[in-house]
Amino acid sequence: MQAPGHHPPDCLSIRDGRLFIEECDAAGLVERFGSPLFVFSEGQIVDNYRRFRDAFARGWAHGPVDVMPAMKANTLLAVRQLLTNEGAGADLYSPEELEGALRTGVDPARTSANGGGKSREHLRRCLQAGVRLTVEDLHEIDWIQEIAAELGLVAKIRLRVKPTLPNLWRRTDFTQLWIPIDLGVQVYKSGIPPEYLVELGRKAFAAPNVDLVGLHFHAGRHHPSLWFWEGMMVRFARLVGDLCRAWDGWKPQEIDIGGGMASRRDPHNKEFSRWEFLTTCLGYPFLVGLRGLGERLYHSLLGKILNLLTEHPQPKGVPTIEEYAATITRTLSRELTRQGVDLEGVRLQTEPGRSLYGDTGIHLARVKVVKRQTQPIPYTWVLLDTSYFFLAGGVFEHNRHPFVVANKADAPHTMKADIVGHSCYADQIILGAHLPEVEMGDVVAILEAGAYQESSASNFNAMPRPATVLVRDDQAEMIKRTESVDDIYGRDHIPDRLRAPGSGGRP
Ligand SMILES: Cc1ncc(COP(=O)(O)O)c(C=O)c1O
Repeated sequence: MQAPGHHPPDCLSIRDGRLFIEECDAAGLVERFGSPLFVFSEGQIVDNYRRFRDAFARGWAHGPVDVMPAMKANTLLAVRQLLTNEGAGADLYSPEELEGALRTGVDPARTSANGGGKSREHLRRCLQAGVRLTVEDLHEIDWIQEIAAELGLVAKIRLRVKPTLPNLWRRTDFTQLWIPIDLGVQVYKSGIPPEYLVELGRKAFAAPNVDLVGLHFHAGRHHPSLWFWEGMMVRFARLVGDLCRAWDGWKPQEIDIGGGMASRRDPHNKEFSRWEFLTTCLGYPFLVGLRGLGERLYHSLLGKILNLLTEHPQPKGVPTIEEYAATITRTLSRELTRQGVDLEGVRLQTEPGRSLYGDTGIHLARVKVVKRQTQPIPYTWVLLDTSYFFLAGGVFEHNRHPFVVANKADAPHTMKADIVGHSCYADQIILGAHLPEVEMGDVVAILEAGAYQESSASNFNAMPRPATVLVRDDQAEMIKRTESVDDIYGRDHIPDRLRAPGSGGRP
C-alpha cells in the first residue's frame, strides 16, 4: 500500500513564480473578477467525486455504492449541479439545502435528510420528494408514520447510530481539549444512543407506513489516520450485528458511513494546537513572573517566547481517497461477515464533505497594508482585503490554512507576520506565517478553502460576501456574484414611525 499522503497531482501548480489553478493564473483572476474571491476547479471536483465512486466500488463488491457529498460543506449551486450531472447523491441537512439540491435535479433516492430536530414541514417535504430520512430523534418515527400515512406512501428510513468506541482512546482532533476520540464522539450531539436503538427499531417495524432500510453512522472529523477508520468501522459493524440479532435477523439494505475524512492538505484544528495550548497554560505563571525583571527585559523575553509559540509542527499525513476507501470497505466486509450479516446486495453509502471539496477551492485576497512595530515587541501584520468572517467554518474548526503568495509563489520566505483580515475584530487568519516580502497589491491565496468556508461566510462590518468563480482549463466564469449594499441591507426594515422627521418615533 502506498504510504499515506502520496496524493495524485492537483489543480494547483506554480509556473514561473505564479500560482495557477487549472490553466488560470490566480492573481489574474483577481484582476478580472475583483478581490476577495473564491475560486473553484471544475476538474478537481469531478476528479475527486470519481475517485470516491471508483475506489468505494472497487472495495465493495457486495452491492451498489452511492457517493453522497455533504451539501453543508459547499452549497454553491453550480458545484452541486456538476455533482448531480455526475450522478452523485447528497447528504442534506436543512430544508434549504434540500431545495437547493432538488433544483439541480438530484436523484432523491440517493439523498439522506440528516440532522436532529427536523420539523413536520421538513419531513413532509422530504417524503413528498422521495428523499431518504435518517432518523435522529426518538419522536421522529411517530411523526414520519403520521405524515407518510396522510400522503399514502411508505417512508424509507434509516437510524443514525452512535456506537461506543473504547478502542479509540487516542486524542481527538475534534476539539482543542485533550480528550480521547471515544469521549469526543460521545459528547457530540448527533446519533441515537445505543440504549434506545432496539426499541426504536421495533417501533419502526410496527409502523405500517415506515420501512427501516438501513443504518447510518457519522461521527465528525476526529483523526485523519487509517487506524481511526478501521477502529470506527469495527465498532460500527459490531453494533450493526447486535441490532440484526436483536431484530430477529433483520438485514440492512443500506449502510451509510457518513463523512469525516480529512482533506488533502488538511488544515483542521492546527492554528493553535493543543500542545501549544497546554504549554501556554502552564507557562502563564512563568510569563507573569518575568515582570519582576523590569519592563524592558520582560518585553524582550516575551517577544522571544512568542516566536517559539508560533512555530507550528508538521501536519499529520493524510491518506488518499483510495486508501480510505480500501480501509473502510475491507474492514466493514470482514467485520460484518464475522457478525453474520448477509452482505449480498447491501448498498454502501458515503457522505464526504471536506475530503471531496477541500482541495477544490482557494480564497484569493489582496494585501492592503503591511504594518510593522518594533517596540515594545517586534511584530508584523499583513492585512488582507478579506476577513475571517468569509472563512468562518475554518475559524470554528481552528483551521490553519496553507497559503501561497500567488504572484510571488517561489520567492524565498524571508518575512514572518500574522496574516490578518480587515474587519475590526482581531481577524487572525494565519498566525506567525513565513512568507515572501509582500507589499500592497500582492495576492495571497488561502488554500484548501473549498469546504465549509464559502458556505459559512457572514457579513460582519456590513462587508459584502465575495464572489465565486469556477475555472475549467483556461476558462473562468462567475458562479456567484459578490453581494451589493442592497443585498446586505435587503432584509432590514425601518418602521415608518421612525422615519417621521423630528418625531424620533415617540408621541
Ligand atoms: C451526517 C453528516 N454527513 C457528512 C458530513 C460531512 O462531514 P465531513 O465534511 O467531515 O466529511 C457531515 C458533517 O457534519 C454530517 O453531519
